[in-house]
Amino acid sequence: MRIVAFGSGRGSNFKAIHANIKSGTLQAKIVSVISDKESAMIEYAKKEGLEHKVFSIYSTRNEHEDRILNYLKSVGFDLVILAGYMRILSSNFITAIEKPILNIHPSLLPSFPGLHAQRQALEYGVKITGCTVHLVNEIMDGGRILAQRAVEVRDNDTEETLSQRILQQEHRLYSEVIRKIVQKEIMI
Ligand code: GRF
Repeated sequence: MRIVAFGSGRGSNFKAIHANIKSGTLQAKIVSVISDKESAMIEYAKKEGLEHKVFSIYSTRNEHEDRILNYLKSVGFDLVILAGYMRILSSNFITAIEKPILNIHPSLLPSFPGLHAQRQALEYGVKITGCTVHLVNEIMDGGRILAQRAVEVRDNDTEETLSQRILQQEHRLYSEVIRKIVQKEIMI
């Protein structure tokens, strides 16, 4: 399973996945790390000697996506994982990729899509939230759900404490889903 990872930020989900690949508990290979800016994820890729590429100069979303697609022509891959990638992909891009694209979101979708999902959950007052791994389609956080993990909201939770507990589950869940795809327990 040759994986291309997209991220814009700290990359903790990606690092958790990569740690499992390195320890041999996940049979996959990271063939490229793509970011829309210089980010902690790119720094990590450099440190780990992973192929990486930053696409930060462009004028329109089309141009940005075309550049990425052009680059990806030379990278054989089976799966794309979004790990904190802060851009919405166009349906043209999703079609042109021709491989499954996964995303992880810090809520139990379809509740609380979009930004600040943990804050949304606290503000709404739900007692259980969690995280979701789903396929990416043209609707934001709207693709087929592959797996979810519940996290209890505590009375004294802040956005930070809740996010932290959800993140611990994200780090497990994302690798579990990839493993199930590798082992054909999840068919896409
Ligand atoms: C995670 O909470 C993920 O669910 C969301 O963006 C955040 C990325 O965090 N899509 P990290 O970059 O993986 O640390």
